[in-house]
Amino acid sequence: MADFEEEMVVTPWKVAGKIDYEKLIKQFGVEPLTDELLRRLEKFTGRLHLQLRRKIFFSHRDLDWILTLYERGEKFVLYTGRGPSGPVHIGHIVPWIFTKHLQEAFDAKLYFQMTDDEKFLIHDDFTLQKAVSLTYDNALDVVAVGFNPEKTRIISDVRHIESLYHLALRVSRHITYSTIKAVFGIGESDNIGLSFFPAVQAAPAFLESVLAGKPVPCLIPAAIDQDPYWRVTRDVAPKIGFYKPAQIHSRFLPGLGKGGKMSASQPETCIFLTDPPEVAEKKVMNAFTGGRPTAEEQRKLGGLPEICPVHQYLFFLFEEDDEKMRRLWEDCKGGRILCWECKEILAAKVKKFLAEHQRKRSKAEKTVKKYFLSKAITPFKA
Ligand code: TYM
Repeated sequence: MADFEEEMVVTPWKVAGKIDYEKLIKQFGVEPLTDELLRRLEKFTGRLHLQLRRKIFFSHRDLDWILTLYERGEKFVLYTGRGPSGPVHIGHIVPWIFTKHLQEAFDAKLYFQMTDDEKFLIHDDFTLQKAVSLTYDNALDVVAVGFNPEKTRIISDVRHIESLYHLALRVSRHITYSTIKAVFGIGESDNIGLSFFPAVQAAPAFLESVLAGKPVPCLIPAAIDQDPYWRVTRDVAPKIGFYKPAQIHSRFLPGLGKGGKMSASQPETCIFLTDPPEVAEKKVMNAFTGGRPTAEEQRKLGGLPEICPVHQYLFFLFEEDDEKMRRLWEDCKGGRILCWECKEILAAKVKKFLAEHQRKRSKAEKTVKKYFLSKAITPFKA
């Protein structure tokens, strides 16, 4: 299990240890999301989204630039994605919920990439059929989040490669193997597919530019683990005649255990969107907390909400009301509330959320096809 004592590691394939976001800003060379920038965003979005008010999205690259272009009338496209390796958990939808908000606020088109190729290359036991069928399964969760069907295109790398390959080739010509080794830690014994894959994840950032026949700005909301892809993509973009894609990065929703981000490899500390609500309730009730060993000590010393995943879940997703959130923190610190009480508050909200999500998910079975890319985007004449 990832623990607070473990060294911090943040890559697209591994996140471990206690995450120091200030340090990541410096290490990755990204910009903090300042209050000034938030005020600029607010002009377009109305009251700031919960994930901005609480700095869950905490850093960016070129967000200021993309807003300046928008102010001048140049619209941007959104791009985000999923590596379908199993069922979707509630950590994954943190950036999706925010992306939906941006889609509405800016009336933006969205490309949503399903990297079934990446998952096939990583998991020795995956067949291509399995990877692709997970794309279609996970797409139901994407649709259930509520993206605009007219303005959203889901892309399966395996099924829709015709639209991406011409871009991936152009990108790949400007990336050396030594860059890929240094940025992604790919080694001599890794398969060669993984070395090419970053060019495939770069490609959707430029799709709208191909369609429009001119550079179109692109904004990528994702958690900070995906950043290595964007570093490489941004280096190449001007060399092939496109804008560098901008990013906005979120923190990680932790698992329900002690430390570490939510990870499907520890299912008991992970709430899947397909978990029956009662199963999720049990997981919440068994969660690690920032509580003291006894109720008496908790009343005397207060709890530690800063290390408590139950508190984090309310903060990230489930308690909209900032005043209630502040009171919960203070009541915990002051020993006026016990862990089982917070767990009950969270469990009720999670159950309600899952029931609603699963209702929308079953409805999505009828509409999901509409969201997939249906016509290839290529620069070639037929
Ligand atoms: P994947 O499937 O690992 O993750 C999907 C999205 O969820 C974010 N994420 C989290 N956010 C908050 N808390 C967590 N615990 C958590 N775990 C994961 C990821 O940052 C991601 O945004 N290679 C990608 C798929 C992809 C992609 C993209 C993602 C292709 N193009 C463009 C973002 C943007 C992947 O395997 O994501």
